[in-house]
Amino acid sequence: MSDRWLAGDAYERYMGRWSRSLAHQFLEWLRPPAAAQWLEVGCGTGALTTAIVSSCDPHSVVACDPSEPFIDHARRHLADPRVTFVVGGADALPPHDSGFDLAVSALVLNFLPVPGETLALLRQRLRPGGAIAACVWDYAGAMEFLRVFWDEAAAIDGRAAALDEGRRFPLCSPQALHALFDAAGLTQVETGAIEIETRFAGFDDYWEPFLRGTGPAPAFVAALEPPARDDLRERLRRRLAPAAGGEIRLRARAWSVRGVS
Ligand SMILES: C[S@@+](CC[C@H](N)C(=O)[O-])C[C@H]1O[C@@H](n2cnc3c(N)ncnc32)[C@H](O)[C@@H]1O
Repeated sequence: MSDRWLAGDAYERYMGRWSRSLAHQFLEWLRPPAAAQWLEVGCGTGALTTAIVSSCDPHSVVACDPSEPFIDHARRHLADPRVTFVVGGADALPPHDSGFDLAVSALVLNFLPVPGETLALLRQRLRPGGAIAACVWDYAGAMEFLRVFWDEAAAIDGRAAALDEGRRFPLCSPQALHALFDAAGLTQVETGAIEIETRFAGFDDYWEPFLRGTGPAPAFVAALEPPARDDLRERLRRRLAPAAGGEIRLRARAWSVRGVS
């Protein structure tokens, strides 16, 4: 079962609505200089790209992703002369004559086949003294809406354990991220924790995006037989107690990391 980055609208409902909030917090943590030349890896539907444009006053942003539907979505929703969207993965990053000032990625590092190789490629594209920064969800801990999902999924189907991002991605901890950046030869390496609240209007607002097939957990739901899918839905409904007013409020923590080349 692949991670399936297929459809921009489905991704926005499932994850993009949260990665957009996270992107702003990530940039506040990063405190980048104005007028920088940015390279973004795995821009998806453009959550971080949009935040860079709206809050960082960039000189330019080259934002890349291997998913054509995601890049199409990003192009339709962000038309800014400073931004260039490129279809391409971490192994086909565009060069920059004088070197980018900053290379960033949000929620991508753990999906790369060999993250250390990508950091090496990013360093080649930076100017001397340029920086790399990234964030990833705390899947094993306080990324609560997915944590609850995988815990209940494991109770109904043995295949869930192998797909659970909390197990698949040991990179998603401050220690592992720090070690990765150190090993890539970056200096002044720092990690941080960023937290947002994920607020669902009710259970249907939580559950419906899992039925749209885009992303690891929705791909798992798509592979379930209807009775198992119904069982999972009802387990989750029992588990997720709404607050007064019917909202379901959960924490979502990400780990951030940065280093200088
Ligand atoms: C969880 S999404 C994050 C998207 C976006 N950065 C955000 O914050 O919403 C993971 C993204 O990584 C991209 N991706 C997967 N494999 C990749 C690779 N080898 N190189 C670059 N990006 C990749 C996917 O296409 C997808 O857009």
